[in-house]
Amino acid sequence: MFTEAFNDLPFSKDDDLKILDIGCGLGFLSCVCAEYYPNAMVLGFDTFEHASLKNSSIAKAKSNAKVMGFSDRVRFQKRDFFRSDYRKGRFDLFVSNLVFENLGKRRLDAYERLARWATLRSYMVLGELFFDYETDSKRLEKLFGNIQERPSSIHRSYRLLVLSKPKRENP
Ligand SMILES: C[S@@+](CC[C@H](N)C(=O)[O-])C[C@H]1O[C@@H](n2cnc3c(N)ncnc32)[C@H](O)[C@@H]1O
Repeated sequence: MFTEAFNDLPFSKDDDLKILDIGCGLGFLSCVCAEYYPNAMVLGFDTFEHASLKNSSIAKAKSNAKVMGFSDRVRFQKRDFFRSDYRKGRFDLFVSNLVFENLGKRRLDAYERLARWATLRSYMVLGELFFDYETDSKRLEKLFGNIQERPSSIHRSYRLLVLSKPKRENP
């Protein structure tokens, strides 16, 4: 589903993209990005301590990227989303899978923070179990000028959203 969404983004596969994988866990999606965009640099970050992914560690994520042959282009950092600021990275593409649903009501503040990291050229592809999609979509509509929902058949609450045109641009 992620690569199908990438197919429709206005980037070329060969672009030197900067990609941020939020809550990367063991780095699976980071590697999917590196494979799809062979010139991209991918940064994945995670606390590597959350109950939603037991026994994860930055060492395991790094080892996975190495086994996949991407250790020169996929890096990882141990960071907490709420204590991080990735505005200066000026990332072209943000990806995240199954992360915000774990944050309870704080996810709504997380969306605000995320929107501040984006530029007018950035795209975000977020896959989430949206248990209260009405609330989340209202918040996301306030923050992004363009929201597309991709078809999904994984679970009735799982949606893959492509977000762009943040209303308050990363200065
Ligand atoms: C269900 S796992 C998904 C991992 C990965 N995205 C995937 O699809 O395999 C949720 C991830 O979110 C991370 N996470 C939860 N809260 C976080 C926070 N405040 N900052 C960074 N990562 C966080 C967890 O550590 C965990 O690795």
